[in-house]
Amino acid sequence: MSESAPEPVTHPAPVATIASLAAHQGRRVTLRGWLYNIRSSGKLLFPTFRDGTGTIQGIVPKAAVPPEVFDRIKSLTQESSVIVTGRVRADSRAPSGFELDVEDVEIVHLVPTGAPFPITLKEHGVDFLMEHRHLWFRTPRQSAILRVRATIMRAAQEYFDTHGFVRTDPPILTPAACEGTSTLFELDYFGDPAYLTQSGQLYIEATALALGKVYSFGPTFRAEKSKTRRHLTEFWMIEPEVAFMDLEGDMQLAEAFLIHIVTRVLELHRADLKVIGRDIAKLEAVIGIAPPESGVPSEPHSRGQAASSSTPENEDGSVILTLSEAKGKNPRISSEAPGAPNLDSEMWDGSATQPGAPHLASEMWDGSATQPGAPSKLRLGGQAATGAPRFPRLSYDEAHQMLDEAYKAGKLEAPHVYGDDLGSPDETYISSQFDKPVMIHRYPAAIKAFYMQPDPADPTKALCVDVLAPEGYGEIIGGSQRVDSYELLKSRIEEHNLPLAAFEWYLDLRRYGSVPHAGFGMGIERVVAWLCGLDHVRETIPFARTLNRIYP
Ligand code: 4AD
Ligand code: MG
Repeated sequence: MSESAPEPVTHPAPVATIASLAAHQGRRVTLRGWLYNIRSSGKLLFPTFRDGTGTIQGIVPKAAVPPEVFDRIKSLTQESSVIVTGRVRADSRAPSGFELDVEDVEIVHLVPTGAPFPITLKEHGVDFLMEHRHLWFRTPRQSAILRVRATIMRAAQEYFDTHGFVRTDPPILTPAACEGTSTLFELDYFGDPAYLTQSGQLYIEATALALGKVYSFGPTFRAEKSKTRRHLTEFWMIEPEVAFMDLEGDMQLAEAFLIHIVTRVLELHRADLKVIGRDIAKLEAVIGIAPPESGVPSEPHSRGQAASSSTPENEDGSVILTLSEAKGKNPRISSEAPGAPNLDSEMWDGSATQPGAPHLASEMWDGSATQPGAPSKLRLGGQAATGAPRFPRLSYDEAHQMLDEAYKAGKLEAPHVYGDDLGSPDETYISSQFDKPVMIHRYPAAIKAFYMQPDPADPTKALCVDVLAPEGYGEIIGGSQRVDSYELLKSRIEEHNLPLAAFEWYLDLRRYGSVPHAGFGMGIERVVAWLCGLDHVRETIPFARTLNRIYP
């Protein structure tokens, strides 16, 4: 064997992802990805590679590689695709916690210098970026947002999947409106009008009466004719519906569900949230993280350490100019690199779900599906359980009073008119009074949907709830107890001028074994905007659909 190896033997390096480099420290790896940026400093090249799980800074001293390798790396253009071999070196100052001593780069596709990648590292206008959305999300911040979105969706489903809910998918093509006729997308269904669904609710009321606890999750559509920061024409909604549940149970469910989602995002995406620029303490407050015990890694106090590695100074890459040895590597950085956790079944088996969940009073929520005695295996969950007081609740009347006082004190420009819906400034003002989502319940029935149950204590009010995200991110959840009387529902359909024939099946749910039932809908994009701290929902979904945009 030895006589057949006159040249130096290059041992194949295992293929790795940037997020998993902690497991390869000190060893050679192969990364497959793209060139994000390259800088040079005399006889040193500093290429930054990305692979979808993160970015890593490479270092190429001229003397360390063959001349043709040095020249090849030097020729790389932004977004050229590459296969990189190198040795992983820990560096506490690098945003990912590691740097790569590059040995070789194979070019898969070289972006020509004459037709460069259109999104450069300088600033671009939003219209330009949206026009190039298919390329824009290759950049670190946009990639991080999409990773957080994926976790929000996964955590939302996980909550219901581990709490006894059956996922039942409603149709997208529907014969009638659910959420008012002004935002319907109409289409021609073999000669008859049909509509893209605005919400799966009416259909999952039917499956709830068959299965008890159900949820749906899918795209929903609203022909929103106004340009706002919070409205898409196509968005994703997750909706639970529960038989024998009242408004109180609905509010408790919404709270436990939201706490679960925020907990997961904080567990898995601190590094992404830093890239995005999110104030993480604001999210910790939502789940009531108590001051951490000392010495426990991955708890919030060590965030300061992690945060210091993301000072602008480091993010602009200046740190790589000093090649000094890594010292005091922060284990948090690697364990929280985007996509890093290997989600073992323990993390996701649901035994530790409902961190911080209040005791659920209703029969359906007596814990039969929640393993109440199960010890929490979640780092944050344990803290939240002890530190999270309930989300504040205000009746519509109380909210009105708060707004009225704010107006009189000069804190709001316009008065809130009693009986009207809450405007955007009203919602922002109310949410700014609390550090947790606020639940506003019992709106006037006249401004709410036809299917909402009247409050027996005051039938002019609906047994409904809107959950407003903190920091002015607006309504993230809308829900209610549903009308369960056949007569009342029929008259509501008629009052709203809805076509009775299209609702006969829905009335059947009140003809045969009607029960009190309730549910809510949460818009994924609104939650992404809130948790990532984005001022517009267009960045919360891979390809946003708005009044003015259906390309790309
Ligand atoms: O409050 P909405 O209209 O409620 C319903 O559709 C009920 N049928 C849900 C139910 O009870 N099962 O919408 C629910 C949520 C809102 O709180 C918001 O998060 C989101 O869906 N949403 C939108 N998100 C983005 N763009 C839009 N145009 C949205 N409209 C509603
Ligand atoms: Mg609503």
